[in-house]
Amino acid sequence: MDVMFFNARLTIIFVLFLKNVCPETLRTYRMENYCGQEISMILDSVYNGELVFSSDGMSNCTVTIESWYSVPYLQFYFEDFDVGSDDCLTDKLLMKDGESVYSPAISGLGPKLCGSDKPADSYRTYTRYLRIEYQTRRYYPRSVSFSIVFNSFDVGTCAAWETRCDNGHCIRDEMNCNGYNPCGDHSDCNLTVGSIVGIVIGSLAGLAILLAVSVVLICRHRRLKFRNVPPQGPVPTIATSYVNYAHPSQPGVIPSYINPWYSTGQQQALPDPPAYEYSSVPFMPQAQISSQSGK
Ligand SMILES: *[C@@H]1O[C@H](CO)[C@@H](O)[C@H](O)[C@H]1NC(C)=O
Repeated sequence: MDVMFFNARLTIIFVLFLKNVCPETLRTYRMENYCGQEISMILDSVYNGELVFSSDGMSNCTVTIESWYSVPYLQFYFEDFDVGSDDCLTDKLLMKDGESVYSPAISGLGPKLCGSDKPADSYRTYTRYLRIEYQTRRYYPRSVSFSIVFNSFDVGTCAAWETRCDNGHCIRDEMNCNGYNPCGDHSDCNLTVGSIVGIVIGSLAGLAILLAVSVVLICRHRRLKFRNVPPQGPVPTIATSYVNYAHPSQPGVIPSYINPWYSTGQQQALPDPPAYEYSSVPFMPQAQISSQSGK
């Protein structure tokens, strides 16, 4: 039971680890393809995604991301950021909290973004919309690029299928530990020291129990195997079981050697019988011999 529990836990940790090492690929939206449009997370049935923009030409582009009714806020951060010069004169990015051109700037971000210093934090909306306006007044081509990783979240009481972040955000379980900081404060994938120690000890204990069980099973298997195999190699001679008797011709004299003829042991092949004594006299019964000699 414990082994199962710890192994299940280990598997979960391993999966989480893998998810962090090789993050899942997010649905990518190319902003150029959505200029003047709204990206509806509901219609696309997504809870997170990446908005990528790259431009070599002169064109303004505004895109609004709309979150779910039930999961109504958006968390986002910049993955790449290279938007013109630092003076924000030729190129600038406006990030607004709402769907209108008059919506306020995202809290924590300035009204205009430009340059190549990537905004460091993760930011959130207080409405269902994130409006992204790219404006340019360039007269010569210059490449501009940025990308935004975003996901929806909820506050209040988290649903059964949601994970609670330290900052009180509720994110969908499948987003937990996906390597994209869905909480905004890196509190997903949170392992306390205690739980790590518990997992390590649990894993070691599980491993020890597994090892013990394996050893017992292997030994049992081998025992059963040997029980069914007939003994091989030379049959051991049971020298101690020989019982020596006195030779009939020498009663009372126990031979100092083990004479198999007079032993009970039958393990060894019997030696040849005593050589037959040939004689020129043909064999005849004793009676005949005595009658002949008496003649
Ligand atoms: C982009 O929008 C800005 C601000 O509205 C405007 O000044 C500029 O001329 C526009 N650029 C192009 C290429 O339309």
